[in-house]
Formats: sequence, structure tokens, C-alpha cells
Amino acid sequence: MTHANDIGTRTGAIAPDLRPAGTSQPALSFQNVSKEFAAADGTRLEVLRGVSFDVPVGEIVAIIGPSGAGKSTLLNLAAGLIAPDRGSIKVMGQDTRSPMDWRCVGYMFQDDRLLPWRIAVRNVALALEVGAMPAAERLRRAQDALELVGLGQFANAYPHELSGGMRSRVALARSLVGEPRILLMDEPFSRLDAQTRGSMQREVLRIQDMRHVSILFVTHDVEEAVILADRIVLLSPRPARVRRNIPVSIPQPRIGTGAAVALTAELRASLEADTIEEISA
Ligand SMILES: Nc1ncnc2c1ncn2[C@@H]1O[C@H](COP(=O)(O)OP(=O)(O)OP(=O)(O)O)[C@@H](O)[C@H]1O
Ligand SMILES: [Mg+2]
Repeated sequence: MTHANDIGTRTGAIAPDLRPAGTSQPALSFQNVSKEFAAADGTRLEVLRGVSFDVPVGEIVAIIGPSGAGKSTLLNLAAGLIAPDRGSIKVMGQDTRSPMDWRCVGYMFQDDRLLPWRIAVRNVALALEVGAMPAAERLRRAQDALELVGLGQFANAYPHELSGGMRSRVALARSLVGEPRILLMDEPFSRLDAQTRGSMQREVLRIQDMRHVSILFVTHDVEEAVILADRIVLLSPRPARVRRNIPVSIPQPRIGTGAAVALTAELRASLEADTIEEISA
């Protein structure tokens, strides 16, 4: 497969720069957010307790934390799919409980969720089908988004004809086709092999650099967080609180550098300490 650095330089109809005029307000802001769910046995499951952090405009914020801590719940809150019990979530300064235009938010799920009976370009165009855009325009934009992620020549391929990495690119194109200002990514590359994952990570950095889209990225992989993020939010075990909020200013490319290796080791130790605390609690 072509290397991420060599591909997808054509931006087409997608806005070249999504940085808003005033950049002082964060793209995404969680303020004292708490969330409970009803557990299967009827009891309440406290998932988030007083979580506060921001995603500044044009930055990548990675969330790491133990399994079941509430990381996907945070993304679902940011996408307006669920509402907080307490606290507030603001998207570009607007409370998610007020009526708002959700097209500024893109969501890339852990599984690619491609429809097997649709060719790649029609899978990408699916994200535009909620609006009134004419079909030809939807397909043109979908083709542009595929070009952006380096898959322009595979527009007519069905998902089963694509490798895992290529399917991941189609899913990335689908999350970008609506020109979101904020991209929510839930462990999007966790099923890929190490080499393909590395190539997708470079792709995210390239697109983010080009578009200044603000990204909230959930990962189990501490090294991935260190490679990608401008800031890392470390959650405690459930009920999740923000255990650490760490700015990362290591220059890119970070992979394999002493600073990145040291930060990865330190964060792994923090996560492990939390897990031990949870088991012995
Ligand atoms: N809609 C829901 N209804 C009931 N319980 C839920 C719901 N969504 C999540 N939960 C529960 O909340 C807890 C946190 O779930 P969440 O998916 O946010 O964790 P996570 O940190 O993303 O976990 P993982 O690392 O395994 O992906 C889990 O115990 C989960 O079962
Ligand atoms: Mg999850």
C-alpha cells in the first residue's frame, strides 16, 4: 500500500481550513460532567463523576483510561447521543442540550460500520444523506473525501474488496465528508496491525495539520496517545474522574524518540497503578 505521506494531497471541495475566526473558546468543553446508567440488575452504575476538560481548537486531545471507565460515554455525550445527568458539554461554545447543528461534529467508531452492499464512495456519501444535498453533489464530495485519504482509485470497490487499512480510510473519509470542525474518534485503529496503524496515525496528523480540525481521540494504546496528542487526559477507574491532564509538546515525528518513550512508560505506570488500586479497593 502507498505510504500515507505520499498520498491524498488533493483536497477538492472540502474546506481547506476549518479554524474559526475567534479561537479563544475551546472546540469542546466538558464542565463537571457526571453520568449514571441503569445497570442490568436495576441498580445505578455511576460512570462519570465531575469530569472537566477542554479540547482547544485545532488540537488533538487523547483520552486514556481503564476499560469500562467511561471513555466511549464521553464521546457519546460530545456527539449529543446521550445527555449528562449533571454538568454541561459545550460544542463550539454551544450547550449540547440546546438545539444545534450537529454537522460540525464527525464520529469515527471503533468498528468501521461500512455497509457491505455499498461501494466505497456510496458508503462515504451516506454521511450526507440526512440533508437536502442533491445526490450528484453528495457523490462528488464523497469522491473528494476519498481522494483526501488516498483512496480515490477505490471509489467503486465494495468493502469486502478492501484491506483493513483501506476500510479504515473509507471510515475516516466518511467522518470527514461533512467538513466537521470536531472529530470524535473511538479507538479507530485498534483492530489494525502495527504497520497499518502507524500509517493511519500519520494520516490523522497530516489531515489535522491541513484542516486544523479539533480531535477527541480515545485509545487503549498509550503509545498512540503520546504519538498523536497535544494533550492527554488520563481517567481513573469508574466512576471516572480526570486523574491527569498533561500537555504534550514533544515535536513531531515523535515515534521512537527518547521523550516519547519516557512519557509512554510514565503513563503506563500511572494506568497500572490505577488498576492495582481498583483491584485492591
Ligand atoms: N447506554 C448504556 N446503558 C447502560 N450502561 C451503559 C451504557 N453505555 C455504557 N454503559 C456502561 O457504562 C460503563 C462505561 O462504558 P464505556 O463504553 O463508556 O466504557 P469505555 O471506557 O469506553 O470502555 P472500553 O475501554 O472497554 O471501550 C460500562 O460499564 C458500560 O457497560
Ligand atoms: Mg469504549
